[in-house]
Amino acid sequence: MDPDVTILRTLQEAGPTGYVSGEDLARSLKISRTAVWARIDELRKAGLHILAVPNLGYRLDSHDDVLIAAHLRSRLQTQRIGHKILVFRETASTQDLVGKLAREGAPEGLVVFAESQKKGRGRLGRAWSSPPGSGLWFSALLRPPWPPSAVTRLTAVFSVAIARAIEAETPVRAHIKYPNDILCGDRKLCGILTELHTEIDRVDYAVVGVGLNVNATVRDFPAPLRSLATSLRLESGEPLLRARLAVRILQELDALYAQSLAGGFPTIAEEWSRRCSTLHKKITVTRGGTHRISGTATGIDEDGSLLIRHDSGRIEAIHGGDLTVEKP
Ligand code: BTN
Repeated sequence: MDPDVTILRTLQEAGPTGYVSGEDLARSLKISRTAVWARIDELRKAGLHILAVPNLGYRLDSHDDVLIAAHLRSRLQTQRIGHKILVFRETASTQDLVGKLAREGAPEGLVVFAESQKKGRGRLGRAWSSPPGSGLWFSALLRPPWPPSAVTRLTAVFSVAIARAIEAETPVRAHIKYPNDILCGDRKLCGILTELHTEIDRVDYAVVGVGLNVNATVRDFPAPLRSLATSLRLESGEPLLRARLAVRILQELDALYAQSLAGGFPTIAEEWSRRCSTLHKKITVTRGGTHRISGTATGIDEDGSLLIRHDSGRIEAIHGGDLTVEKP
């Protein structure tokens, strides 16, 4: 195991007021105390606050809002998601990075975070503003053994995982808007972007990107989005630790993805429906800019497609598109 992960796990196990001696760390890692000191020094340079007190040892201050791969890994207990984590200070788009690593053969579960993105993108070619420190901008690599038609499940799995994590870690009440948004009230908190590389009848890989506005203030949003977007900080009135939320999201994702692989997607679809604010309402879905489908949203099917009941009673399953709720 990565020595940084072992050091951080040991410091976390000692608790917020506990110390671990350099000697104990050196013994469990089978390295010298000087080498332990060098690792601690690197972790501090990366932004972690680690106290060193003579005769007591090291203590981790867990109130740092920094994203560090070893720190995230040390707090995760997952089967697949996050077995490898990379964190970049700045990148064009984490989607592109994960896509490149996928083509080079990276196994599923890889997660790439960026503190900021120069060319963050959203659905339908829209730009995604990703200023430093204000949100969680990350992409995960998955290789589900599903036909391409079933991959909309992934967006549902991510939506439920993020909604659960927000609920567990914050006082904010978030809900899902089909197909890929998490909202608070009428404002967007989070967007999910699922990009696929497929072969004729199977998915080679999927890159699922998450843009979650965590500590953004109004000024962090581009002017045209200020009345449409929100952040967890704006909603709860206090800043949040992004790393803590990230760990919770990855943990929930791991459990839900495992459940969907084991045939448990119908239960996830039920939770998705409970958390979805656009069900049982008259909606219009616009696809390809002009093609409109109107009816009442009733749920999602086993592939993650939205079920729409037309006025005639006919049920149609659709995936993708932009959804608007009709005013009563
Ligand atoms: C949307 O609502 O249209 C989806 C937004 C997805 C944004 C995330 S941020 C991390 C990842 N990298 C990108 O370039 N986009 C996604």
